[in-house]
Amino acid sequence: MTADYRILEPGDIPGYLRERGMFDGNPFADSDIEVHEVSDGNLNRVFIATPRDGRSLAVKQALPWVRVAGPSWPMSPTRATAEARAYRRVAAVAPETIPVVHDYDAENYALTMENLSDLRVLRTVLNEGGGFGGASTAVGIFVARLAFATSDFGMSSAERKALIAESVNPELCKITEDLILAEPYVGHEHNHWHESVADLAAAYRDDRELRTEIADLRHTFMAGAQSLVHGDLHTGSIMTGDRDGTEVVRIFDPEFSFVGPVGFDLGLYWGNVIVAETRARILDGPADHTHEIARTWQAFESEFRALWPTRLDTFFDDAYLDRFLTRVWTDALGYAGAEIIRRIVGFAHLSDLDSLPDPGPATRRALLIGRELVIHRADLPDPRAVRKLIDQY
Ligand SMILES: Nc1ncnc2c1ncn2[C@@H]1O[C@H](COP(=O)(O)OP(=O)(O)OP(=O)(O)O)[C@@H](O)[C@H]1O
Ligand SMILES: [Mg+2]
Repeated sequence: MTADYRILEPGDIPGYLRERGMFDGNPFADSDIEVHEVSDGNLNRVFIATPRDGRSLAVKQALPWVRVAGPSWPMSPTRATAEARAYRRVAAVAPETIPVVHDYDAENYALTMENLSDLRVLRTVLNEGGGFGGASTAVGIFVARLAFATSDFGMSSAERKALIAESVNPELCKITEDLILAEPYVGHEHNHWHESVADLAAAYRDDRELRTEIADLRHTFMAGAQSLVHGDLHTGSIMTGDRDGTEVVRIFDPEFSFVGPVGFDLGLYWGNVIVAETRARILDGPADHTHEIARTWQAFESEFRALWPTRLDTFFDDAYLDRFLTRVWTDALGYAGAEIIRRIVGFAHLSDLDSLPDPGPATRRALLIGRELVIHRADLPDPRAVRKLIDQY
């Protein structure tokens, strides 16, 4: 397979950025611009271009295949269009939570954005024993503002139908439907696990109660078109750091974005919070990471409630808001559990657990908590109840 558009190599980046008008008015020669590749994900290429004097930029390009696999694993580059669309929507309502996007080149599936190299990926910070800082508040605000603006509360019915149509992302949704919401519960060649949880991996495959609850979450993911979601909001999709004494949090990589259930992003994030907590507890004793669930929810709920009086369709009354928020909360706990389980018995695992001297005890604990969250999500009314559940393990 070959690409029918321009695939950028490091040496092309200075000329490319110049063509895209990124250096208009600046007299650099191409040789004054240093370029290096920082791709460390699976799917795409990311380059950083730094002019000798001037603003540095990041360029992210989607290839027509999975970067780490090559042309033998084709994948539509329109994932970059989904990423650009999500950034555009968030930029209108919560610009401080994402990188500044300077350009989207739809012909070549390339985004040019703010260079975040001065920040660090949250998962790395946590693995080194650091804390969340303001990440959970940023996630709550990001999800609330994006969800409200792209739901039937923030948009007219006709605009919403157009948004749903333009935001379909079938290839990446299928990855989630398979990897998170099916494969761990059936025998699949992708699945693998640490030997200490082999018994649980087998039990979860035969667990009919768990299977039906995952089917419910899977169907909500497929058919619950509530609002535009990020779609991959784990602790590796967040960068944090300090700029001039002010804490900065940036949520990035929304290429899985589509119109889905509002609780999905909160749940994926919480699944990763709980795994980070499990790691920290094993290394240093009980950590305060569980509090991050309350922090995220508080930010989300207060932001969503503040926006509620501005809803376009006032047939949705205040009592319905309470019911809607309860549904988001319950869905989110279910997705948190599903995320934990798939990160332990599914295809893609987490460095949080894999890098422990003995991954066994933490892996087992997280896997047990994951099932509880899925099965009992409707019986856990608030963050305190979740904390109590986690502390029982
Ligand atoms: N704007 C940016 N500035 C600086 N570095 C960045 C930027 N965007 C991405 N990176 C770096 O490139 C890495 C990969 O980026 P990203 O996660 O967006 O790519 P991906 O191929 O979609 O990854 P994945 O396979 O995890 O989905 C990040 O972990 C980060 O180190
Ligand atoms: Mg990605």
